[in-house]
Amino acid sequence: MPCNCCEMENNTFGEDEAKANLKDYRKRGPANQTKLILEAVRSLGLRDASLLDVGGGIGTIHHELLKDVASEATHVDASSAYLKIATEEARRLGHEAQVKFIHADFTDVAENLRQVDVVTLDRVVCCYPNFRELLKAASSKSRRAIALTYPRETWWMKMAFAVMNFFQKVMRDPFRVFVHPVAEMESLLNGEGLRKTSTRRLFVWEMSLYQR
Ligand SMILES: C[S@@+](CC[C@H](N)C(=O)[O-])C[C@H]1O[C@@H](n2cnc3c(N)ncnc32)[C@H](O)[C@@H]1O
Repeated sequence: MPCNCCEMENNTFGEDEAKANLKDYRKRGPANQTKLILEAVRSLGLRDASLLDVGGGIGTIHHELLKDVASEATHVDASSAYLKIATEEARRLGHEAQVKFIHADFTDVAENLRQVDVVTLDRVVCCYPNFRELLKAASSKSRRAIALTYPRETWWMKMAFAVMNFFQKVMRDPFRVFVHPVAEMESLLNGEGLRKTSTRRLFVWEMSLYQR
């Protein structure tokens, strides 16, 4: 689906990046911040759950959760290269029939998607300027919980992202990264009827689980 977001994400998250991510995943398993999401979702004790993974990249979250917690998943991503690799890996794992892949800016298609038990956003809010629109749309699709990772709101992350954005500007690449205000994300999700039930931190990433 053509959109500014998709064009930008296609350029940033292209085929080489997707192949490198898949290689890492096959070699080492899920990345550390993704493990926090997987543990948080597993802690809910669900079985046969439905998942929506927004900006799921190569699909690590559904590749993992379809093994035990989930019976179906929807993966919406603005990068066609990531979706292609995610689809191939789902086929290899025998999960292809259980996953619906959608190439779009999630905020454009959310209203057409049905509600699921759990929505996940792993390192996605930091790629999207309008976190309010993204999280509002994500929370409207969640019956039980949302688990997300985002950059910690620390001075060193703000500085690192400012440096990255400076180089993006110099390269005339419109893609930007964002350290969004954690308190504002929390108050938005509270307003949507979700309460934070756990938070875990790594050096760069923070994971929060919200439940209804
Ligand atoms: C940094 S990557 C993270 C990929 C994967 N979740 C991971 O942690 O490995 C960000 C992903 O979010 C996707 N993305 C960003 N904004 C999006 C939006 N509004 N709708 C759909 N996908 C989006 C990008 O295409 C990309 O696949």
